[in-house]
Amino acid sequence: MKSHIISLLEQTVESFKQQALIPADFQARIQVDRTKDKSHGDLATNLAMMLTKVAKKNPRDIAQLIIDNLPESSHVAKVEIAGPGFINFFIDDNALASQLQAALNDDHLGIERPTKQTIVVDYSSPNLAKEMHVGHLRSTIIGDSVVRALEFQGHHVIRQNHVGDWGTQFGMLLAYMEELRTDDQAQASLQLSDLQEFYRAAKVRFDESDEFATRARKLVVELQSGDEYCNKLWREFNDISLSHCLEIYQRLGVSLTREDVRGESAYNADLEQVVADLDAKGLLSESNGAKVVFQNEFKTKDGDPLPVILQKADGGYLYATSDMAAMRYRSNVLKADRALYFVDLRQALHFQQVFSLARQAGFVNPEMSLEHTGFGTMNGEDGRPFKTRSGGVVKLVDLLDEADVRALELVRSKNPDMDEAELAEIARVVGISAVKYADLSKNRASDYIFSFEQMLSFEGNTAPYLLYAYTRVAGIFKRAQDVDLSQAKIVLEHTKEKELANKLAQFNEVLTRMTTKGQPHVLCAYLYELASEFSSFYEACPVLAADTQAQKESRLLLAKLTANTLKTGLSLLGIDTLERM
Ligand code: ARG
Repeated sequence: MKSHIISLLEQTVESFKQQALIPADFQARIQVDRTKDKSHGDLATNLAMMLTKVAKKNPRDIAQLIIDNLPESSHVAKVEIAGPGFINFFIDDNALASQLQAALNDDHLGIERPTKQTIVVDYSSPNLAKEMHVGHLRSTIIGDSVVRALEFQGHHVIRQNHVGDWGTQFGMLLAYMEELRTDDQAQASLQLSDLQEFYRAAKVRFDESDEFATRARKLVVELQSGDEYCNKLWREFNDISLSHCLEIYQRLGVSLTREDVRGESAYNADLEQVVADLDAKGLLSESNGAKVVFQNEFKTKDGDPLPVILQKADGGYLYATSDMAAMRYRSNVLKADRALYFVDLRQALHFQQVFSLARQAGFVNPEMSLEHTGFGTMNGEDGRPFKTRSGGVVKLVDLLDEADVRALELVRSKNPDMDEAELAEIARVVGISAVKYADLSKNRASDYIFSFEQMLSFEGNTAPYLLYAYTRVAGIFKRAQDVDLSQAKIVLEHTKEKELANKLAQFNEVLTRMTTKGQPHVLCAYLYELASEFSSFYEACPVLAADTQAQKESRLLLAKLTANTLKTGLSLLGIDTLERM
């Protein structure tokens, strides 16, 4: 509906140009928004205000001209001017009903298909030297949900798990692996089953023994120069570390696989070229023996120049160097129209610098959009970064185990008579979705407080609330199995029917906002509102006990579309629904 109104306004602006009311080259940025107060219609635009300058008229007069020139549309019941020159649109109930009817018959809920793009999504991307911790949770689940939504819209999405599988810390890890080395493969995997502990122990050895540290440094050099023995150790290590990640992905219901991994090391062979090309473009400077690029727009707080370092004095390459190579690959080989980076906001400056450098150096197609879709920190209830009681890093596995236990308690208290197997399955879904939803429902740019109590509550914008709401809507059909809906039609009469219908019709624009901005919380907020809207509809409008058969069928269709929308919406968040809980 929104895009329909936008298109009507576009045509109007065109006719203004033909009538020479406004200059032919004027680019109008047409904005149409949902109204807060329904007495002001359903949608509103400030287009008249945008045109005052170029049309040299007052906004209310322009608004009237817009209304006079607006193409006829059966979707619009009424148009009004409000306040200083806003135009309010009232959507026709029959048009709304037939939009919903069409959505019911489409497995994509009638969404509009945007122009298909190739979109690279860089997410999760943990460092393989250590075990995944809570810091990786946000990137993994926010990224995965945006990936799902983009695919649902029909885009070609390429997942890139840019894992940290390279760097000096690997020397230390390989040296320690070597020290523990037994010929027994099972033994080696066992040692690595707790990566956190493995890393800690390696670090202890590194700090206590000069001999060990020397060996570690030597191994890095050998690894970098392609030594077969070192590379074998390194591959073994990464392989085991990656299997830990894949286990977590599976448990979280995240769609990343081994094939999506393209880590930092994948760009090793290009790094020399990256530096040579920057040099050839005259961008490179030397600073204390390191090869760097200074860009005018980046300065330290004190106003000193802030370089991007590409190669250290000892010849080693850095994080920024692989990102330069990765951008070139994403543009030239993957042919991406957009690249999204779901990475902690603490890396904001890094991305500003490398994005700007990639453009300056012509490494990426000028049309390609580079977006750091960053996120804030997950804090504990004390408002400080989330830690274990003893101040350690919280392992993701432990967090999910705790979610499981707490969800089981919750589900059992609601269903004392349910058998253990079903309880466990419901608890698994509730626990994982509570953790995911709590994260997804917050604006990613802000920090948030991780609270089991809050995320497992049945009240408010939480996973349990939505899962339960879904079971309630789905439950209506269980009791209406004998009703044949094949000829049924949606008819909107009651205010609550209209309000629910209005909400249902907004799915497309919500999805568009979510994918253009990379913001799953927009979808969460929508699903929550939809569930609440359904509750008030259900309270006011009896479904199974409706006055007439036609009314009952129409209401059942509204319930059905609500159920479909909730289920699809949750699936785009990577959350499974339950039939009962
Ligand atoms: N491995 C990095 C980290 O854990 C994140 C990588 C993000 N992606 C990228 N292309 N830089 O901080």
